[in-house]
Amino acid sequence: MIVLAQDIGSRAAGSDTEFAAADYIADQLTSYGFRAVIEPFEVEYYVEQTSRLEVRSPETITLEPQALRLSASGEATGELVAAGIGRTEDFPAEGMTGQVALVERGELTFSDKVANAAAAGAAAVVVYNNEEGPFRGDLGEESAIPAVSISQEDGQRLLALLAQGPVSVHLSVQAGLRKATSRNVVVRPPDGRCERLVGAHYDSVEAGPGANDNASGVGVLLETARALAIGGDREGVCLVAFGAEEVGLVGSRHFVAGLSPDERQALQGMVNLDMVGVGDQWQLLGSDELVAELDAEAASLGLDPVPLELSPSSSSDQNSFIAGDIPAILIHRFDDPHYHSAEDQVQFVDPQLLEQATELTLLTLRLLAEPDEN
Ligand code: BES
Ligand code: ZN
Repeated sequence: MIVLAQDIGSRAAGSDTEFAAADYIADQLTSYGFRAVIEPFEVEYYVEQTSRLEVRSPETITLEPQALRLSASGEATGELVAAGIGRTEDFPAEGMTGQVALVERGELTFSDKVANAAAAGAAAVVVYNNEEGPFRGDLGEESAIPAVSISQEDGQRLLALLAQGPVSVHLSVQAGLRKATSRNVVVRPPDGRCERLVGAHYDSVEAGPGANDNASGVGVLLETARALAIGGDREGVCLVAFGAEEVGLVGSRHFVAGLSPDERQALQGMVNLDMVGVGDQWQLLGSDELVAELDAEAASLGLDPVPLELSPSSSSDQNSFIAGDIPAILIHRFDDPHYHSAEDQVQFVDPQLLEQATELTLLTLRLLAEPDEN
């Protein structure tokens, strides 16, 4: 935990520090007597270097836009034109060559809104949220013109200015697809077949050292490994530290894609540990049956977790398994005020919670080892 988050620090997918973290995890597992294999894979991911949106008149305002994923890079300077939700008929009939379209989120896909704006001649698009706060959007494919999102509040501010007269803005986006190699660290049983699996991602966002997200989960993965090594039931147990989770669950998807139909069949369940060291409540999330079972049995540890739905905007590695029809559960602790920031540091991680998470993990492995009652 401390080595990952303090000595190594930020571990963005494909970076040298992510590479070093994989080596460290493999060494730890090896020292407990496991055979750890490093499995490399390619990642392609979209990086936003800078996005800027400035109102230049009637007054100067600097906003904080986020590029829609796969937005083109580029700059535009022009009049801001409100264009409803971005349907073809929402744009001025005479077109809006070189101007910047302001559209509301909702109903159409982002990529349709942006394509319609480009067809009307717009040089760039700003999409404001249709509910409170900012949001992250994804175009699904590369756009022809730069496109960013802003909060509903900022959108309304711009609309209020437009109601008074012309508004000129400057927008710039610098972003693009990057390719890199990331790696999973995998321990399999001697026959190679996983019946039960514990996983945790070890990469972090670039912005911070990822102590809770997710050196905490890796710490618990290693502690679980140690417990199994000194006398637990390790039959059929696989242990995987996933790379490149933060850029789209890439490591876990790669792992699941590599399973043969037989191997998928053999795998009874996956436990994902993500953000287990901060917050005031245990939460369980994933396949209904697994969640219900662990929820009921957790009382034996004196714990009372809450089965929960993750907001559709967050996701973690259990979803790669669920998508492959393998039962999976996320063990998670709610709520981390330093999520994805430079403040996600070791001093905020509570060692007692890591111990509880280890117990929950070992309990889940025991539940998965029991033959099904029906
Ligand atoms: N640990 C988070 C996911 C998370 C957030 C779980 C809050 C539970 C509560 C994870 O590392 C993450 O940030 N995932 C990305 C996934 C995406 C890139 C596919 C996310 O949710 O934005
Ligand atoms: Zn995470």
